[in-house]
Amino acid sequence: MAVMECAFSPEYGEAWNRRQVSDTLVLTGTHYALIAPDGSTRPTGSDPAAGFALSRGVFDEEELLLFAIAPQWRRRGLGQALLVHFIESARQRGKKRLFLEMRHNNPAGKLYCAHGFRPIGIRPRYYCALNGDRIDAITQELVLA
Ligand SMILES: CC(C)(COP(=O)(O)OP(=O)(O)OC[C@H]1O[C@@H](n2cnc3c(N)ncnc32)[C@H](O)[C@@H]1OP(=O)(O)O)[C@@H](O)C(=O)NCCC(=O)NCCS
Repeated sequence: MAVMECAFSPEYGEAWNRRQVSDTLVLTGTHYALIAPDGSTRPTGSDPAAGFALSRGVFDEEELLLFAIAPQWRRRGLGQALLVHFIESARQRGKKRLFLEMRHNNPAGKLYCAHGFRPIGIRPRYYCALNGDRIDAITQELVLA
C-alpha cells in the first residue's frame, strides 16, 4: 500500500484502496509479486518494497491489473525486472495470453512494448482525469509461445 499511495498520479484515480486490494487478493487466480530496491523479487517482510505487480488469471489468460514502482526507485531497471518476473511466472502457471490496460501515452507503454506487448484495442474516453479530461485506454496483449 505504501507503493500504491505514492506511485500513481492522483490525477487519474488509478490507485486502489486497501479494501479493493484485500478483496482481490482472496479471489481465485489472483497473484502478486513484490520487488525490493535491490531487484530481489522475494523481499522479506522487513524489506521495504520498491514496487509490486497484481494480476488475475482465468483459464490460460492473465491480466496485469496493477503495476508500479515507487517514484524514488524508478529508471533503475526495477520495472523491467518486475515485468520479466510477471511474464515468466505467468508462463509457469501455464498462461498463453497476457493482457493489460493502460492510459493512452503512459510512458509505461515503452516498457510493455519492449517486452512484446502489442496494442489490440482502444476503449475510448475510458479514464476520467480530475480536470474532467477523458483519456482512452489501450488494451495490450502478449502472446506467450
Ligand atoms: C511504469 C513504471 C512501472 C516503470 O518503472 P521503472 O522502474 O522506472 O522502469 P525501468 O527503470 O525498468 O524502465 C525500463 C524502460 O522503460 C521505459 N520507461 C520507463 N519509465 C519511463 C518514462 N517515465 N518515460 C519514458 N520511458 C520510460 C524506458 O525505456 C526504460 O529504459 P531506460 O531507463 O533504459 O530508458 C513506473 O514509471 C511507474 O510505476 N509508473 C506509475 C504507475 C504506472 O503508470 N503503472 C503502469 C500502469 S499501466
